[in-house]
Amino acid sequence: MKLPNLEILDEKDKRLRQKSVEVTFPLSQEDKDLIQDMLLYLKMSQIEEEREKYDLRAGTGLSAVQLGSLKRFFVVVDEEKEGKFRNYVVINPKIQSVSEEMIYVGEGEGCLSVNRETEGIVPRHARMTVEAQDLDGKTYMIRVREEISIIFQHEMDHLDGVLFVDHIDPKNPFKNSQNMREI
Ligand code: NI
Repeated sequence: MKLPNLEILDEKDKRLRQKSVEVTFPLSQEDKDLIQDMLLYLKMSQIEEEREKYDLRAGTGLSAVQLGSLKRFFVVVDEEKEGKFRNYVVINPKIQSVSEEMIYVGEGEGCLSVNRETEGIVPRHARMTVEAQDLDGKTYMIRVREEISIIFQHEMDHLDGVLFVDHIDPKNPFKNSQNMREI
């Protein structure tokens, strides 16, 4: 596999703080290529051999803004079974409903744009229903839960210029954890 040539913005870059704009259809070839590159990059980052070869950090989600494109889409690659990857392409997402139950990643969230040690938890909805568009502009509904729900919320934050670290209170990074379930 050849690693796509993607430059992931660091959190110091102001573009990560901007609100991305709705995507119009049909997608440009440039956007289609970018989506394929993002999917391949994430997949390769999850394959140990490729990760070591290219010195990558493992990632499961990427938003267009992290590549400098201020458009409302993101991709997720989830290794459902050993060597079997599921791709999500999520364009113009809109939350339809969320669970009351909140969860958080016990070891803390990570982001390919945040290149430093962080401490603290981010409250996320355990389940969520999202309406979005696919590569052809077709609208679909998706129900996500647990880890995928967290990733979707993390990526949707990116589309509004929000980073996961913004949710952490530096004075009390594990605030309210007793009210949430750790995953
Ligand atoms: Ni991120």
